[in-house]
Amino acid sequence: MRKKIVAGNWKMNKNFEEGLALTSEIINIAKDELKNQAILVINPPFIHLNSLQKLIPQNSNIRLGSQNCYHQKSGAFTGETSVDMLKSVGVQYTIIGHSERREYFNETSEQLAQKTKLLLEVGITPIFCCGESLTIRESGKHLEYVAQQITESLFDLSTEDIQKIVIAYEPIWAIGTGKTASSAQAQEMHAYLRTHIAHTYTQEIAENISILYGGSCNPQNAKELFACADIDGGLIGGASLKSRDFITIAQSF
Ligand code: 13P
Repeated sequence: MRKKIVAGNWKMNKNFEEGLALTSEIINIAKDELKNQAILVINPPFIHLNSLQKLIPQNSNIRLGSQNCYHQKSGAFTGETSVDMLKSVGVQYTIIGHSERREYFNETSEQLAQKTKLLLEVGITPIFCCGESLTIRESGKHLEYVAQQITESLFDLSTEDIQKIVIAYEPIWAIGTGKTASSAQAQEMHAYLRTHIAHTYTQEIAENISILYGGSCNPQNAKELFACADIDGGLIGGASLKSRDFITIAQSF
């Protein structure tokens, strides 16, 4: 059985006090109300990671994640954060290749392949983001385009390592727009990506990989999305900034 995961990507939101408050609320509401086995990952800005880790109870289903890491191990890279640093403050998941980073920071498939390898070396689970723009969707080439993103960054991995990856499909046209992909559109992509992985590796390996959906996922639409056979959870932006909404989404399995 692959893992059910709901990850909150806070992006560049919440100062320290607000981050503490949001995390405390998530921990408390989850403890009282969350009845399923979903894993909740909170991905705050780097500067909050060390403090927030101390709030998370040992045996809870809440995990700490970061929104990025650098693609070199260490050295003279002013302002960057290494996988070793993340590991040392208790980070267990790291989002890589978000479309905002690909677009605004020119991240390449090759750099994402390097980040993936470095993360796996220290035992952090990469949440690998992929997804097409509206122009690509309208051209009808979206399935091949997203499959290619996965091929370029992940298909050098061994059969053992590919199974440690979490994939997040986030159509760019659905991010922060309130315009979610329909469950049929999301399921079509997720099934396509799973088959794509099965062709390079095996069906069994493909069945073990959690594929999350992201893009205007909210308490109203999560149930229908998560009911799809190949959708194993969500990567949540705006709705992860409200504790109640985030937990309601996690309860939607
Ligand atoms: P929204 O949920 O705000 O659309 O953002 C999705 C996202 O980019 C998560 O990484």
